[in-house]
Amino acid sequence: MSLRFLTAGESHGQALTAILEGMPAGLPLPADAIDAELARRQTGYGRGRRMKIEQDRVQILSGCRFGYTLGSPIALQITNRDWKNWEERMAPQATAGTEGEEGPPGPPEWERVRSPRPGHADLAGALKYGHRDLRNVLERASARETAARGAVGAIAKVLLRRFGIDVGGHVVRIGDVEAPGFRGDLEAMRQAAEASEVRCADPEASVRMIGEIERAKAQGDTVGGVFEIIAVGVPPGLGSHVHYDRKLDGRIAGALMSIQAMKGVEFGLGFEAARRFGSEVHDPIGYIPYPDDWSPDSPDRLAYGFTHHRNNAGGIEGGMSNGEPIVVRVAMKPISTLYTPLPSVSFETKEELPASIERSDYCAVPAAVVVGEAVVAFELARAFLEKFGGDSIAEIDRNYRGYLEQLRSV
Ligand SMILES: Cc1cc2nc3c(=O)[nH]c(=O)nc-3n(C[C@H](O)[C@H](O)[C@H](O)COP(=O)(O)O)c2cc1C
Repeated sequence: MSLRFLTAGESHGQALTAILEGMPAGLPLPADAIDAELARRQTGYGRGRRMKIEQDRVQILSGCRFGYTLGSPIALQITNRDWKNWEERMAPQATAGTEGEEGPPGPPEWERVRSPRPGHADLAGALKYGHRDLRNVLERASARETAARGAVGAIAKVLLRRFGIDVGGHVVRIGDVEAPGFRGDLEAMRQAAEASEVRCADPEASVRMIGEIERAKAQGDTVGGVFEIIAVGVPPGLGSHVHYDRKLDGRIAGALMSIQAMKGVEFGLGFEAARRFGSEVHDPIGYIPYPDDWSPDSPDRLAYGFTHHRNNAGGIEGGMSNGEPIVVRVAMKPISTLYTPLPSVSFETKEELPASIERSDYCAVPAAVVVGEAVVAFELARAFLEKFGGDSIAEIDRNYRGYLEQLRSV
């Protein structure tokens, strides 16, 4: 059974929901572990007032009993705390004033969102689905949906941690301000990044990044950036070279690009590799002998065997993890809702209008890190279960230990 999930829910609807299928039985799953990730997603300098209203909490509706997974689909719900202010405008059923219209239903005339925002889904979505009210598009295109993906990713993280795999991330650019990339110690990087308002591990760069966000805000503008996601403790061999749709880099890149506003992904050396000779790019291979007392249960069980002298590949070769940390960077464009709006055109009258304004963030790169971690964790968990999967944690444990022994015997 492959791990898969589906999310549902509008930004100002009653709730966001997700159903995650394929998690094995017997995994301890405290709701707190999910709430902690939801809270992280809501932080970050440059986020709008809505984050303070939301205070997301997950309800686990199925798939768990007494704190352990059952192997059945896990249904998650995150209630929108602001729902009472939107009940009329987002009513799932017809209400007075919305009945009896021809064509796709809409709210009363005065309530419609008319002026599509350049860079958002408003125009293309309304043309594609035949909506007259752009709210019918923006409510689902909104990155509020990433709360549900964050919840799913939090569960994936719990599974991965059980097998010694840790996923973290940090901001390495906001606008023009750059910070160093991953230097080898994920825990130290995480602590420094989580102490920063912009989720950047470099304190000096953090201050300048805040300045960059302030500069955008003062002009009614927005600013994007780059974040880096790192996974350590990943054994070699997740993913596959034999099928295009099981290549780990392809899946991770696709998942990251599916996050709202992400416009580029690079692994390891990334685009820089295209400028260099092969000898400067590819990672020489070495071998570290296993000690006699090596055990598949020891914390350093993956520290031996074949290794690379550097990690320009970002931990993936031939569509498979190669045993090095997975390092992937993602470029996020500036948010498209501008408080000083760009020119647009009324969807109804075709007259020129400034783009509409929804309550919005100035910079969401720090929050996007958490979503990036979530989708990478999901893809790693999926690949991990494809290779070692069983119906229970105990069965996966046996399969994984057997594989570790196999690596040792090479
Ligand atoms: C964490 C996060 C928060 C976001 N917040 C906003 C926001 O407040 N306002 C906005 O216009 N876009 C926001 N976006 C981006 C839009 O959702 C996105 O640009 C839009 O759906 C169009 O999709 P595209 O940029 O991938 O083409 C956010 C994205 C992320 C990842």
